[in-house]
Amino acid sequence: MSYPYQIQSYEQYRSVYAESIHHPEAFWAGVAGHFSWHKKWEQVLEWDFKTAHIAWFKGAQLNVAENCLDRHLAAKGDQPALIWEPNDPEDASRTLTYTELHHKVMQFAHVLKNNGVSKGDRVCIYMGMIPELVIAMLACARIGAVHSVIFGGFSAQSIADRIQDAEANTVITCDGAYRGNKVIPLKSTIDDALPFCPSVKKVIVCTHTRTPVSMLKGRDIWWEDEVALVAEQGNPYIAPESMDAEDTLFILYTSGSTGKPKGVVHTTAGYLVWANYTFVNVFQYRQGDVHFCTADIGWITGHTSVVYGPLSAGATTLMYEGIPTWPDAGRLWEIVEKHKATTLFTAPTAIRSLMGFNTEFLKDKDLSSLKTLGTAGEPINSEAWHWFHKNAGKSSIPLVDTWWQTETGGPMIGSLSGVTPTKVSCATLPMPGIQPVLVDEQGHILEGNDVSGNLCIKFPWPGMLRTTYGDHERFRQTYFSTYENMYFTGDGCMRDEEGFYKITGRVDDVLNVSGHRLGTAEVENAINMHLGVVESAIVGYPHDVKGEGIYAYIVYKGHEDEDNLTRQDIALTVSRIIGPIAKPDKIQFVRDLPKTRSGKIMRRILRKIAEGELNQLGDTSTLLDPTVVEEIKSGRL
Ligand code: WTA
Repeated sequence: MSYPYQIQSYEQYRSVYAESIHHPEAFWAGVAGHFSWHKKWEQVLEWDFKTAHIAWFKGAQLNVAENCLDRHLAAKGDQPALIWEPNDPEDASRTLTYTELHHKVMQFAHVLKNNGVSKGDRVCIYMGMIPELVIAMLACARIGAVHSVIFGGFSAQSIADRIQDAEANTVITCDGAYRGNKVIPLKSTIDDALPFCPSVKKVIVCTHTRTPVSMLKGRDIWWEDEVALVAEQGNPYIAPESMDAEDTLFILYTSGSTGKPKGVVHTTAGYLVWANYTFVNVFQYRQGDVHFCTADIGWITGHTSVVYGPLSAGATTLMYEGIPTWPDAGRLWEIVEKHKATTLFTAPTAIRSLMGFNTEFLKDKDLSSLKTLGTAGEPINSEAWHWFHKNAGKSSIPLVDTWWQTETGGPMIGSLSGVTPTKVSCATLPMPGIQPVLVDEQGHILEGNDVSGNLCIKFPWPGMLRTTYGDHERFRQTYFSTYENMYFTGDGCMRDEEGFYKITGRVDDVLNVSGHRLGTAEVENAINMHLGVVESAIVGYPHDVKGEGIYAYIVYKGHEDEDNLTRQDIALTVSRIIGPIAKPDKIQFVRDLPKTRSGKIMRRILRKIAEGELNQLGDTSTLLDPTVVEEIKSGRL
């Protein structure tokens, strides 16, 4: 039986989905036939959730950069692969055709090799949203080096933690990055991180903002100089490295329930197949489409939906350097109009930030090129859904809500644009191959519709993470030990009366602030480093723009003459340790935290107080000191 690579109708979705569940290996072998392989696989799937072992297309060899570039050259060499829109509308945009991007990737692959990067080495990339970031990623993929992209908003300390964990030998960065009216001094932040990273031997610095930087002899080199050397040698061809299907393509660090960020490992064949298949189907890609995803490449959405999904499909990806609200709230619409984007894929928090401005900004913009709107990263509230659908989509094009995670590699639950139904604030139906189950606290599977529980996936999919870097036991424990024989997502979910899935948010100690994922323990550890802080507890609370805001309860034993100064200072500490994204929105000083007699902090109570549900605290009589709760309630911010 053969399957349509791109699903065309709801009916077809149902039959393809059924096949993908009943004959997963044959199904994915069929999809995999659409790629270039150096060697075919011996086995489609090998798995055991008990030991957390997953392997797809075992025995096969291929190269992801070749699949994203070389494969398209004959038919699409002159087609734009990448359109780049700068932060400042006064500056020129850039377009790279497939031929040009291929050329630049090969040049930079030589630069990496010339500087001692070989197959399997880890390369940390800390750059702004410029084409060189994509070039750097694909150059790594071409020579088989493992990239670890770090979001530009992370602090020196966070970078150092990630570089140390991955033992990267090379860093690629820029002098600086533009974000709205700010210049972020990336190289200088790297300089602060590197004294703690003895593994790093080379730092390649790309010029962008002309921010002054200091260069260290023997370690720091300029991107442009190195590329010029390769050009002088006549830009020799560089063959794509033959990678095993299960070789690591990249590591991407994300937050979990513990304080230590984990390196999510994605491998070559499975990730490519999944990124491509979900891109082609969710967005219903057609030749000539211009895909505009606003996600930062420092997150999984950027990896999959700016880089690997569109390029592996031979699409044109539109990459934007800046933010939606600068110089004004019309920027995204202007970009859609200018480049005739066919898809606009963004985060609910971006939509909410735009809702604060009046719709004048949209009025005279021609958005008629758009065929699909999409969101990912956090639950989309119905106001934001309707606003986006009405104003950007003129109420006439599909808005697909896609649920996924750094760990899942690509969308798992989501509508296929114009093919399967959409529903307000609802991710709807699983992708082919995805078997979601809802379980109660005890792990019993909840059957039927109109039920809510914890979301698990009971069968592997090609794009799933394979391990957490350097710590396979952590991987097993985090994802496969809560419920037997299932991948636990950490999300709560409802299957509604129609059988559609609606994600309700994290059920573990992970916050989602403006679509940025943060562990409560991570933020608490940072706060606790401030002299005078005895103890702290962080919870999320509903925030109009950020989705979730950070509410910090802090036991403080320093000089309390000036509460506001102390608050600012604590926020600054968090910013230094993690990055500005983790700054608490509210800080309440408390005498003590509500604890059980065994000393466990009752976060449930703190969450309710932060949410303002003061009468729904439940039984507090079992607490060590119930009067603490009353005090916290009365001091609520
Ligand atoms: C949340 C982002 C509701 C969820 C792609 C998940 C969502 C976490 C949605 C992963 C959605 C993502 N609706 N919630 N459509 N998409 N989430 O790893 O809680 O940065 O577990 O990946 O974001 O965040 P991450």
